[in-house]
Amino acid sequence: MKIIQNIKGTQDILPLETKKWQNLEASVRKVCARFGYEEIRTPIIEKTQLFSRGVGEDTDIVTKEMYTWEDKDGTSLTLRPELTASVARSFIQHNLGGKAPIQRLFYMGPLFRRERPQKGRQRQFHQFGVEAFGSDNPEQDAEIIAIAWHILSECGLNNVASLNLNSIGSSECRKKYREALRDYLKPNLEQLSETSQKRFELNPLRILDTKSIQEQNLLKDAPKISNFFNDNDKEHFDSVQELLDTLNIPFIINEKLVRGLDYYSNTVFEFISSNIGSQDALLGGGRYNHLVESLGGKKSSGIGFAAGMERFLLAMNEQNFESNIDIYFINLDHKSISKVFSLTDKLRKNGFSVLTDTLRRSMKSQLREANRSGAKYAIILGDVELSENNITIKNLKNGEQETIQQNDLINKMQSLTN
Ligand code: HAM
Repeated sequence: MKIIQNIKGTQDILPLETKKWQNLEASVRKVCARFGYEEIRTPIIEKTQLFSRGVGEDTDIVTKEMYTWEDKDGTSLTLRPELTASVARSFIQHNLGGKAPIQRLFYMGPLFRRERPQKGRQRQFHQFGVEAFGSDNPEQDAEIIAIAWHILSECGLNNVASLNLNSIGSSECRKKYREALRDYLKPNLEQLSETSQKRFELNPLRILDTKSIQEQNLLKDAPKISNFFNDNDKEHFDSVQELLDTLNIPFIINEKLVRGLDYYSNTVFEFISSNIGSQDALLGGGRYNHLVESLGGKKSSGIGFAAGMERFLLAMNEQNFESNIDIYFINLDHKSISKVFSLTDKLRKNGFSVLTDTLRRSMKSQLREANRSGAKYAIILGDVELSENNITIKNLKNGEQETIQQNDLINKMQSLTN
């Protein structure tokens, strides 16, 4: 009988992995508590119009990626493709704005987008995120970004994540800018891809984040949105940057960062990772001062971010793996097992973490295993070494190796790893 498998783009999280998930979840909860954010849980299914109105009719998410179906009573339902619209719906429905002037919320859970699966991109994935409703001051932006920074630091990712920051201004600013960008691109319209030509009509700002080199070249002298900021936009963005400086959070201004959801205004940001491949956005967010109104609520500004948990875990694996194991002790002859045991024991008593083979495998497969384990060094005890009381140390990062007296092993390893 044919075995039933999981659906493409989804994954089972097996016991070895769940430990890592629990650690990440614990870090998120710890940092959110530090900042006074409280958890909100919303349903996984929502009415489709929540996302078409909230996220935007013409966005990729709404036009191409949603799992949508008609329920038995004819209502169009959707598996949530993001959580900001759901949280805003809940905020309005339960009049949370009337209960406290600022609502600080966080969430974690699964969501669904029908994208082409690849490393770091699934059809069912998980996010944690935070949303703050009620303040349109720049200190609220800085607080939100600081939460992201604290969680990244807690996970050991602050060194691999770089903060890209931009402001897409107020709606009046974007209106003027859209016209200027269209005027600039019009003479070269035929050179743009089909997608960008569509965006030219619907949302020309999205052309700015094109991956095509040819289009990037075309955009080199394009007008900059910052030239269209009004006084408020400029003051707000300047203050956000000053506060980030105060908090020692490094950032770069990326004028091409526009984000793919329509609800943003003013501050937008992403933390990009250098170690997880092409799907490199660990986390993205921004200000959405009109979302609540557009969903029928009383005007309330908001800002937040969401992070892909699978991407966080990928980056954490890349990051932490090598530091866990110092040495892979290669054992080539079962005559030498007791020697290997006494040397590994000595190394461990001196604080090294050591893996060794217990399957009596070949040199080749032990070396493969050593590389896979992320160990920094392999130690080789073969026939020749054994007969001469020597031992070989191989640096697995650069391939260099040297043979030393067995008695010098601890001192040598201490000097290498200090
Ligand atoms: P987003 O940029 O669409 O924003 O998604 C946020 C993060 O979710 C991404 O940076 C990425 O890490 C992760 N992610 C997105 N799509 C996938 C996928 N197919 N597979 C794996 N991970 C993925 C939002 O969702 C906004 N709601 C963020 C926000 C909150 N803005 C304001 N508040």
